[in-house]
Amino acid sequence: MTARPDAPLKVTGRARYALDNTADGGVGEVGTAYGYLLLSTVAGGELAAMDVDAVRAAPGVLGVYTPFEPLTLHPVDSVLLGPMWLPLQDKDVRYHGQPIGFVVAETFEQARDAAALAEVTYHERPTATSFSDGIDSAVDAQPAARQVPPSLTVLSDGVESIEDALAASDVTVDATYETAPQNHAALEPHSALAVWADGLLTVYTGNQASHLVAADLASALGLPAEAVHVDNPVVGGAFGGKATSMPAVLASAAARALGRPVKAALTREQVFTATANRPATMQRVALGARRDGGLVAVRHDSWSATTRDLGFVEPTSHGTSREWYSTENLAISQKAVPLDMPPATFMRAPGEAPGSFALESAVDELADALGMDPVALRRRNSSMAPAGEDLQWSSKHLDECFDIGAARFGWADRTPGGRAEGDWLVGMGTATAMFPGLRFPATVGVTLHADDTAAVATAGADPCTGLLGVLRTVGAESLDVAPERVSPRLGDSRLPPGGLSGGSTATASAGSATMVAASTAIEQLLALAASAGGPFHGHEVGYARGSVHALDAPDREPMTFGEVLAATGRTSLAATGSTAPGEETTKHSFGSWGAQFCEVRVHRLTREVRVSRLLGVFDAGRIINPQTARGQLMGGMIWGVSAALHEGIEFDADGRVSNHDLADYLLPVNADIPDVDVRFVEHPDTLLSDLGARGLGEIGIVGVAAAVANAVHNATGIRVRRIPIRIEDLLAAG
Ligand code: MOS
Repeated sequence: MTARPDAPLKVTGRARYALDNTADGGVGEVGTAYGYLLLSTVAGGELAAMDVDAVRAAPGVLGVYTPFEPLTLHPVDSVLLGPMWLPLQDKDVRYHGQPIGFVVAETFEQARDAAALAEVTYHERPTATSFSDGIDSAVDAQPAARQVPPSLTVLSDGVESIEDALAASDVTVDATYETAPQNHAALEPHSALAVWADGLLTVYTGNQASHLVAADLASALGLPAEAVHVDNPVVGGAFGGKATSMPAVLASAAARALGRPVKAALTREQVFTATANRPATMQRVALGARRDGGLVAVRHDSWSATTRDLGFVEPTSHGTSREWYSTENLAISQKAVPLDMPPATFMRAPGEAPGSFALESAVDELADALGMDPVALRRRNSSMAPAGEDLQWSSKHLDECFDIGAARFGWADRTPGGRAEGDWLVGMGTATAMFPGLRFPATVGVTLHADDTAAVATAGADPCTGLLGVLRTVGAESLDVAPERVSPRLGDSRLPPGGLSGGSTATASAGSATMVAASTAIEQLLALAASAGGPFHGHEVGYARGSVHALDAPDREPMTFGEVLAATGRTSLAATGSTAPGEETTKHSFGSWGAQFCEVRVHRLTREVRVSRLLGVFDAGRIINPQTARGQLMGGMIWGVSAALHEGIEFDADGRVSNHDLADYLLPVNADIPDVDVRFVEHPDTLLSDLGARGLGEIGIVGVAAAVANAVHNATGIRVRRIPIRIEDLLAAG
């Protein structure tokens, strides 16, 4: 049994991604048209005029839409993203690469070539496109996805300020760290096919939650929710960047205007600006400790690049220093730096990923200042609960992660100055990883069939995370049948609403709802079996191993659920189950934890950095599917290496992305990545949900960049406080 039910389709090329679909049914003889986005070429101002006569006259052009002749769209208050910016509805230009037009033609090439003929003039305004341009206008801002104020201070009795607490500490470190903006760079660019038939709209588009994207599209088009069907059985990566789909909005509206199916996709270059990115951050972390390593004061101030409307603030301080260590005094803050830049949004471990680079580098610096082992310092200060709250962690086995990790990695061999092997300087680094344990409301459908198979279905999406396999495993376990007999389904907005892929919540949410749906289905099956006309009429019935048996007649042959259904003249029996976070959230705090270990080799002369070993040991509750869980964590860890050594969007002086392709936007390749060792300590967290699983989709990336930087410091003595680390950083200081 494969751990990934969708693997055969994917490896044989038969999986249908959004643009692999073709329009059919209800559209008569008219074929599919192709849309191409036109993007702004200045970073800020107002559109003065768009001369599109030549565009219209170009071969094959069917429709040209601009803010001067827009497609009609209605305001959207998205469940996931709040009020959404919609293209072509106003003449404001807020960044270089903003969608300002949509050209539809008979072919993709015709649309693209025609779009190039547009003559656009702007009333430009002065813009700020680099962190330093905007830092003086930074304002306090609520961190994204955290229902908390921008800043929080928790002081011990008698302490006046965090500065006093730092000043009273035996040892302090105080440094500023920077992290680069990143693009999700999912292999499947944002794309859509929109097909109208009889007033109903079907949209094939990759996303993270088909039901939520369908609701947003219905709002944008002014339609009732049931008039929109979103289809995404497979998704070519999302990472937080597919909570919405710009091509889907435009293709749907243009398809309605033209009366033809419309396909639209972003080019790779367009993905970098016409979606949203992880923002650049700057973070100042000051730590104060007693000689024995006990933390007296933690101060973490963060600045996150945002759009001028302060859209998304990367919750770096709140995602890390708020919760990870126990300290007598804590002060954290979040500020937004408004810029004329492409918008920011969620990206794998939003907050925790860049936040952990700063905090976990600072902890390493503190260990150095104290002359203490970095693992020992972390263990010494491990938190029992988030600061200022009484809610203890439901289950936290971080010490065990460090114990196992240190032993496995040979941490005891680490020396403060690293070691040399020929021309290579070898160093080891470590860091803590954490991601909150969350779950969202979910409804899952379980259907028993007369052929003794079962279906488990929820709307959501599986953007290669493994949720499909989780539905199968949990469904099989809950129905007490072999996994082969369970078909999971995801990625269809008409299915029960659940399975959102975000916040590392899908397994705990959809998994626990699957358990409820399965037990409801079994109850209904038993009622049916014992009903008048049922094969067990007059008996007390029980259920085990996929079969109904008579409790009061042990000798009587059990009947499989399929046989019971057949005996009552049914082909199937369907039940749904729903779960939602409840009271437990007021009694405990929840988080997955991990210990990251990294070994690097830095060339003595060229200063090339190679990651030579990587180990992550994770405490994520019960592991449902070890194979896909390992895949998720390994992928995250590799992204952490990427953040540390490769990845970063570069903007030129006028706010244009200068490395908007996969040649210049550096991502690690196989040759950059060593064997990645992933281990679990399995302590089911049944306080979070009956399933016992906590999230693990995002925690893999957390802490890795710091572990790399800490290893580089161990190897070279050079502390690099900005990622990605470049050779120049190690040459200049070396
Ligand atoms: Mo994910 S960054 O929680 O969509």
